[in-house]
Amino acid sequence: LDKKVKQNNWEDNTFINYKKMSENLAIVRSRLNRPLTYAEKILYSHLDDPHGQDIQRGVSYLKLRPDRVACQDATAQMAILQFMSAGMPQVANPTTVHCDHLIEAQIGGPKDLKRAIDINKEVYDFLSSACAKYDIGFWRPGSGIIHQILLENYAFPGGLLIGTDSHTPNAGGLGMCAIGVGGADAVDVMANLPWELKAPKYIGVKLTGQMSGWTSPKDIILKVAGILTVKGGTGAIVEYHGPGTETLSSTGMGTICNMGAEIGATTSLFPFNDRMYDYLAATKRSAIGDFARTYAKELREDQGAEYDQLIEINLSELEPHINGPFTPDLATPISKFSEAAKANNWPEELKVGLIGSCTNSSYEDMTRAASIARDALDHGIKAKSAFTVTPGSEQIRATIARDGQLQTFEEFGGMVLANACGPCIGQWDRQDVKKGEANSIISSYNRNFTGRNDGNPATHSFVTSPDLVVAMTIAGSLHFNPLTDTLKDKDGKEFKLSPPSGDALPNRGYDPGNDTYQAPPADRSSVSVQVSPSSDRLQVLKPFNAWDGKDALDMPILIKAQGKTTTDHISMAGPWLKYRGHLDNISNNMLIGAINEANGEANKVKNTTNGEWNAVPAVARDYKSKGIKWVVIGDWNYGEGSSREHAALEPRHLGGLAIITRSFARIHETNLKKQGMLPLTFAEPADYDKIKPEDRIDLMCTEIAVGKPMTMKVHPKDGEAFEVKLNHTFNEPQIEWFKNGSALNTMAKNAS
Ligand code: F3S
Repeated sequence: LDKKVKQNNWEDNTFINYKKMSENLAIVRSRLNRPLTYAEKILYSHLDDPHGQDIQRGVSYLKLRPDRVACQDATAQMAILQFMSAGMPQVANPTTVHCDHLIEAQIGGPKDLKRAIDINKEVYDFLSSACAKYDIGFWRPGSGIIHQILLENYAFPGGLLIGTDSHTPNAGGLGMCAIGVGGADAVDVMANLPWELKAPKYIGVKLTGQMSGWTSPKDIILKVAGILTVKGGTGAIVEYHGPGTETLSSTGMGTICNMGAEIGATTSLFPFNDRMYDYLAATKRSAIGDFARTYAKELREDQGAEYDQLIEINLSELEPHINGPFTPDLATPISKFSEAAKANNWPEELKVGLIGSCTNSSYEDMTRAASIARDALDHGIKAKSAFTVTPGSEQIRATIARDGQLQTFEEFGGMVLANACGPCIGQWDRQDVKKGEANSIISSYNRNFTGRNDGNPATHSFVTSPDLVVAMTIAGSLHFNPLTDTLKDKDGKEFKLSPPSGDALPNRGYDPGNDTYQAPPADRSSVSVQVSPSSDRLQVLKPFNAWDGKDALDMPILIKAQGKTTTDHISMAGPWLKYRGHLDNISNNMLIGAINEANGEANKVKNTTNGEWNAVPAVARDYKSKGIKWVVIGDWNYGEGSSREHAALEPRHLGGLAIITRSFARIHETNLKKQGMLPLTFAEPADYDKIKPEDRIDLMCTEIAVGKPMTMKVHPKDGEAFEVKLNHTFNEPQIEWFKNGSALNTMAKNAS
């Protein structure tokens, strides 16, 4: 295990550290003395302190040292802007940025890409220059989708990766523990802080048997989603095992792990096997495959490993599935699908079929899909529905262009889109139906929530394997079952489609296609990061002010939020995504979805300085301009939802001091601390009811100390002042964050 094996073919100075991992694991083994699951082994071998770390599934918080960080272009902007404020010369852990989310599908790959490069120029220029400056690998627009690039280039068995995108678990197809996180977590790892994860639970999925015919790896996750539902994987890692795992291609396993995000799982993964070795070899990484073989014993579960829940699937009996509409866990086997479509009145005409995306654009997927299209063409027929293909990477595009599948898709009537997310993330200038018109589409993607693909809430979006997408596209109807039904050829003669056939790996090897990677230069000192001062999409972050060391007296309550206040209520997505890199502009969405107890309305609060009712961000800005600090009062589980750091940055930017609630969603609570805010909870939850929106607040910040409550004095508009005790979860280092104004200020201070 002493060998020096590089993590990938792009970086000369990053290595796979199986030796250190096995040492850490030995320490944890001697403490726990029980068989471990594979995911446990990966996590425990990446512990910051294997001797001292408390380890209890579902209870403790693990402090981990990931091997890598990856960011996509939408989330990378704020992550890098924050990293810049830490004042470090370069990232401390290997990091890559991938341009894939901002390319809109309109008329086809090359033209759409050109248009996107134009529209997003300032964002791409910023990311490219910042990556060069801070030693980050940069994958330019056109290179492909983050998860496909990670699988092709960076994933390795036993590694721990965090990525600022929910489908990061895709790398589980190469036996990597790959977890989707928020930008603030990525910044921690870039800056060499340990990364915290609540010790997960483990759901084992045992695969037996072997698939055949129309069944494909996608059907495994479609079935699992049906069993576990969109919430069933929350707080858990899904670990596949059993003899059936040996029958799947590495990319097929990637598909299954990818869509594990749809059941809320922390991640999903497969144990290292020969199929992974083959994929590593095909992607020019045999040295990694050989190294993994020497460590193979620890790249799978121990015998007798305990799972908190166990599911068994016999692949020989698994039917192809179609999931949806509107939710990825509504799973229907193909034999029941036509019936279900009738019973539920789903629009029977299939308007569009879409294949590709990060979920399903492997060589295997493309060759199988092309075999079905070819079968149709040989019978003189083409796609009845519109048909699009998004290759997951430039390498896949170039390889299927060389080997002929791309031409088959075009002959079949398909439009080949850019190597990017496109319609999967709503980057789709769809023209064939009007907004509000009910219609059906089917894709090989992973998510199908209302409006996700085309912004039309009446679009019934289904997800399935690329095979079924192509077959249904030929029939143009939701009632077609290729396993049992016939089609008519060009002469009106009936025929049945042959089951798909394809190759897991290209016989002639992969064609890398155009060079789309930008390595950081060796001499980075002269690189300057490009941010135009007049930009409305990007803004360099200014460090927040340090705490003034005083108690805060006579503060207004900006809003007393009632009921559910999620990160979507605090920092809405949709049209605001455009401003993710511009804190001042995106702050105009702060808390606009929260319900004000004073009037039961959203985005309407009273400005206590002049008595006028106005939008929440406007009132906050007015207080800030007058030098008035403010607080928010919130209900249970404030900040649940996503790990979006904007929800914590915005109140800080607009002059907030404390968020006082009955309870917090933990990630949001930590994010608030990182930005130098005070997340506080009522020691007596009933005190929430005693506070009225127009009360004034004194907060005894000078009392802040580990494990000690803080006093808040409430001055009602009419009536006697009273005291309330507030709890907090600050530890020593976090108190420093508050005192210095933020975690980044603290890092910058320590760095200088
Ligand atoms: Fe992109 Fe859709 Fe995957 S948005 S990263 S292709 S889930």
